[in-house]
Amino acid sequence: MRICVIPAPGIPAEFGFAGNTCVVIDVLRATTSMIAALDAGAKAIYPVPGPEDAWRLRLQLGDDLLLGGERGGLKINGFDLGNSPREYTTERVGGMLLAMTTTNGTAAMLLAHESGAAPVYIAALRNAPAMARRLLREDSDTVIYCAGTGGRLSLDDIIAGGAIVSACQEAPVEVEISDTARLAMAAYRQSRKDISRALVETEHGSKLVELGFDLDIRFAAEIGASQSIGQFDGVMVRPAGHVLR
Ligand code: MLT
Repeated sequence: MRICVIPAPGIPAEFGFAGNTCVVIDVLRATTSMIAALDAGAKAIYPVPGPEDAWRLRLQLGDDLLLGGERGGLKINGFDLGNSPREYTTERVGGMLLAMTTTNGTAAMLLAHESGAAPVYIAALRNAPAMARRLLREDSDTVIYCAGTGGRLSLDDIIAGGAIVSACQEAPVEVEISDTARLAMAAYRQSRKDISRALVETEHGSKLVELGFDLDIRFAAEIGASQSIGQFDGVMVRPAGHVLR
């Protein structure tokens, strides 16, 4: 099994998406919110490119579908939920379908699928150890795809990707780690004493603090708090292994 990291959209890594497993990360905050939604019992999440796509789905599926996401970090006008993972509670989203659109995270998931990766998983720090266990069990070449911000690298995503690489590397099995994966692992290991602080110090983290979302960062930093695995099939993110009725 080989692991590489695409540090931001458009940056070539040692190997690409086609035919390989992909793990998409937007730790602040899209994939953290989606993992929180799965933990809270959401049935499935449709990642969609824009608000108009979410509204179209609402017309088709009716009130069983909640709309969530952000633009500029803030809840989209008329949506039920923003992109704060702490909003995705059992009371709000348990048993529901969700459509989500975020500036970078949902676009990265769609791109990973369109580029021929399979399976495509979503991950964050909260489920990083569970994600690593799944990857080790499947033993396939894996691209960790960091969503970044506006096409630029986002250190928070690299740290979260590095947490998965680190957990894989600590397992007693043969894992070939590329230079990009090694770099991400170094970023994680340097920050792991105080992940929350490391996330706050990133560009995106400090922007979220300015917007008053400090608690989201603390939530996102809780490594290992979730056992959920989310798999994106090109249409929906579902708890991996579950069949949607
Ligand atoms: C994104 O997809 O760009 C992020 O999740 C933005 C955010 O922090 O809400």
